[in-house]
Amino acid sequence: MRTKSICCIGAGYVGGPTMAMIAARCPDITVTVVDLNAERIAAWNSDRLPIYEPGLDEVVRSTRDRNLFFSTDVDEGIRRAGMIFVSVNTPTKTYGIGAGSAADLKNVELCARRIAAAAQEDKIVVEKSTLPVRTAESLKRVLHANASGRKFEILSNPEFLAEGTAVADLERPDRVLIGGETTASGARAVEQLVDIYARWVPRERILTTNVWSSELSKLVSNALLAQRISSVNALSALCEATGADVDEVAAAAGRDSRIGPKFLKASVGFGGSCFQKDILNLVYLCRHYDLDEVADYWEQVVEINAWQKQRFVRRMIRTMFDNIAGKRIAVLGFAFKKDTDDTRESAAIDVCSALIAEQAELAIYDPKVEPATILNELQRATGLERKDLEDRVHCEPGPYQATAAAHAVAVITEWDEFTALDFERIYRGMHEPAFAFDGRNVLPHAAMREIGFEVHAIGKPAPAERASDSSASRAVAVRDGREQLRAADALRQ
Ligand code: NAD
Ligand code: UGA
Repeated sequence: MRTKSICCIGAGYVGGPTMAMIAARCPDITVTVVDLNAERIAAWNSDRLPIYEPGLDEVVRSTRDRNLFFSTDVDEGIRRAGMIFVSVNTPTKTYGIGAGSAADLKNVELCARRIAAAAQEDKIVVEKSTLPVRTAESLKRVLHANASGRKFEILSNPEFLAEGTAVADLERPDRVLIGGETTASGARAVEQLVDIYARWVPRERILTTNVWSSELSKLVSNALLAQRISSVNALSALCEATGADVDEVAAAAGRDSRIGPKFLKASVGFGGSCFQKDILNLVYLCRHYDLDEVADYWEQVVEINAWQKQRFVRRMIRTMFDNIAGKRIAVLGFAFKKDTDDTRESAAIDVCSALIAEQAELAIYDPKVEPATILNELQRATGLERKDLEDRVHCEPGPYQATAAAHAVAVITEWDEFTALDFERIYRGMHEPAFAFDGRNVLPHAAMREIGFEVHAIGKPAPAERASDSSASRAVAVRDGREQLRAADALRQ
């Protein structure tokens, strides 16, 4: 049987783009995306979509009101569809048992209850959200307890798109993963979903597994990706202490085809709504199954990430004569990566909060993040009153306004435009010594030094080190590294 109508609950960074792509590739299927958030739905129906994602406007424009619809009528969406995707947010729990580690499954359970209440016929329910292993079992129980004769098949179909490249990732995914029950009806449901993706994804890229493997594979994929970043970030500290260059080291190691070059870019720290949440969820699962050694191992990936952010701030403070109070610091980039307006768990939040705590004055510019979002994030993180925050944080309309009269510039997001700024002009407008802290290693360091900047970058020899290459300055860097490790330890306790 072919699917004629799909509903997706959750019109976010995943629900919106994935459903737009299905609608584009399957013109015979009616796709309705529903959400409780009326503002978000109105934005999906407007000329200004609620999320910034390169290429998404075109896909939505070509399908909206043809076979792609956005609505707040959740029940009607459920009733009309044969297949229902659940793509709601599953953040880290902030209360009760598992707070700070387990996934909060409140939204997912609410969806299951809503589906059971609204459905009039049999349905296939697809987990699109990232969920702990065996969530399908709980979903099944909730649905079947309220089934009144209807049958529900549950599939796991985790999403692997990355923000900023979502459209390309959906067009040409490395793989599509579908987990289903090993019963005859389970196999039929899997085939129905395979049939949808097979319209544009080569069959050999569509993997089918049992439900638990599919659920766990999603957590594992994110954990392995984040682990690579923490590995290279941990080594960036060693590079700074020894005079090695982390980009050269990563390039050399990545040339080994068994290692590969991707995801080895040292940075101020990974952000985004998922890496930390999914690893913490994995850690929680391991502890649940009494696998403390495994939990401790994965927890280190998150701890190194926190340490890397602190290390960056401490280096800024130390370099600026251990005093940044009242100094204007230009922060370039607030999104958690380039080509998105998403700020969830962005390294910028922790870096800016720490700078604010030292009483610096911040001038922040991001090409896509709204000033209100920046201020909301920082208010949440610092707990400051809005007025006090606005005294210290200025959101600027461009990089030149942000850097004017600044003592330092710090790059937190690797937006392409930051690599090609007029650094002569920036330098002329700044106080001297003009410090640049490159949290992404994207600035033209040599050219900037020529101009007169003192440039500090992740995993690169410090300026003093470059000048003298003396063992004394190496010893200082090693000592500082040890101090930072102790500070991170103290914070963890
Ligand atoms: P999001 O916060 O952008 O969107 C979730 C949406 O679900 C929100 O608009 C919210 O209003 C809606 N919602 C919540 N409960 C609801 C309910 N009961 N009924 C109707 N609507 C409800 O989240 P997201 O980034 O799209 O992530 C969704 C899931 O996909 C998460 O589990 C996440 O881990 C996973 N994921 C995200 C990404 C990503 O790049 N953001 C990639 C892969 C997987
Ligand atoms: C990540 C995964 O890449 C997706 O496959 C997954 O679907 C998604 O999480 C999810 O489950 O939400 P995303 O977080 O959107 O996607 O973006 P990434 O490109 O993975 O970047 C995450 C963070 O790591 C960013 O802050 C980025 O700047 C940082 N990063 C990435 C590095 O610091 N170095 C790198 O080499 C790569």
